[in-house]
Amino acid sequence: MRKKVTVVGAGNVGATCAQEIARRDYADVVLVDIVPNFPQGKALDMNQAAAVLGYEPNIVGTNGYEETKGSDVVVITAGRPRSPGMSRDDLVQTNEAIVASVTKEVVKRSPKAIIVVVSNPLDAMCHVAKAVSKFPKERVIGMAGILDTARFSAFIAWETGMSIKDVTAMVLGGHGDQMVPVVSATTVGGVPLEQLVARGRIAKMVERTRKGGGEIVNLLKTSAWYAPGAAAAQMVDAICLDEKRVLPCTVLLEGEYGVNGLYFGAPVKLGAAGVEEIVKLKLTAGEKAQLRNSAAAVRDVVGVLTHK
Ligand code: LAC
Repeated sequence: MRKKVTVVGAGNVGATCAQEIARRDYADVVLVDIVPNFPQGKALDMNQAAAVLGYEPNIVGTNGYEETKGSDVVVITAGRPRSPGMSRDDLVQTNEAIVASVTKEVVKRSPKAIIVVVSNPLDAMCHVAKAVSKFPKERVIGMAGILDTARFSAFIAWETGMSIKDVTAMVLGGHGDQMVPVVSATTVGGVPLEQLVARGRIAKMVERTRKGGGEIVNLLKTSAWYAPGAAAAQMVDAICLDEKRVLPCTVLLEGEYGVNGLYFGAPVKLGAAGVEEIVKLKLTAGEKAQLRNSAAAVRDVVGVLTHK
């Protein structure tokens, strides 16, 4: 039987995610948005693209939640995006209310779903979805690490002149400027990055990765969507197809990586049950210290939440 995936928020990130999922052709997709006619129009367009791209035209656009009933996975992208000068954390109050109300609606109709949170500030919004859904932590997961790692990987491919397909990187921690690109675990074709690129150049790529979302906000006057949408779809693929992918995702840590009771980016095994394992990776002392900084920054934002 085909899977059913709901994407809440038909903006740029949600629509990109929905189309990536539709193109894989294993799921019916429901696209929800509060703006009248907007998800319906996007769904109609995506259904028509199916004729050209070769997937079943099973995308439904709606302003309500009835159509979402029995979803296997629900992706929450709803909320305000960043505009120039705004940090992800500036969105916390507005988006907390939105994510709380969306979560309430979806869990009523899809009590067994796995929730993938994309709305910002990401780590804090995972706490909101977890608190409102009361789902086990395995079924409330955030998308950030795949996106941040994708950015780091692109910079590494350009710097080395080597294929992005051969870059294996890992960005952990919170989805903010203190995120931690784990240089010690980054390779190109199996060769450690530190053997290929001088330290100073690596530091520049790390810095550009940390500010990667802001760089795009400055150019576009709104948040990125191609890489974020594709990254969320990759998580949905791993869950729906039970792929057992090992991917950096935002999960509730309970002691792992020295972090307790906080949603935070860590490598996880993603499969049909959601988070099937939090994978342990040995870090350098410097990387551990950076993770502590990142955790402190996330705790500050989580501290202002009503739902936590
Ligand atoms: C970014 C936003 C989506 O990093 O958080 O582009």
